[in-house]
Amino acid sequence: MKLKIEVNKTAIEVDVDATTSLLDWLRSLGLTGTKEGCGIGVCGACTVLADDLPVSACLTMLGALDGCKVVTVEGVSETDPGLVEAFVDCEAMQCGICTPGHVMAAAAARRAGIGSGDASGVVDEEIRKWLAGNLCRCTGYETIVAAVRSYLER
Ligand code: FES
Ligand code: FES
Repeated sequence: MKLKIEVNKTAIEVDVDATTSLLDWLRSLGLTGTKEGCGIGVCGACTVLADDLPVSACLTMLGALDGCKVVTVEGVSETDPGLVEAFVDCEAMQCGICTPGHVMAAAAARRAGIGSGDASGVVDEEIRKWLAGNLCRCTGYETIVAAVRSYLER
């Protein structure tokens, strides 16, 4: 199946099996920042944006993405300045496996208008809802929530 997919602002034309997972395809392109944790849509480590919505790349087939704009953790510094820096500033990672997924979930929250223009309205409960699909086994989430809060308030 011939597809046109934009990845991190680069248009790509590809002829592939439509059932190829977005995760496998991205990693075959060398975009290995998107991690495979569970492979069954549970952990969120593979979260990327597809047309501004967070998706689990392990469950997303390429055939569903014709014409889509995908953003991965490799592109997020350009599309969402300050987001990665917020995670670094807040030391919001330990092993780091979950971090790309959390970063992309935060990018999705910003796109949905969470916190935009009203820093006082940014509450941790709201942030936690956006991170609910992303598991972390190391940090206890406090630093991750702090990083997202910091980013949304910038
Ligand atoms: S690897 Fe995709 S949700 Fe866990
Ligand atoms: S930092 Fe290790 S799983 Fe989150």
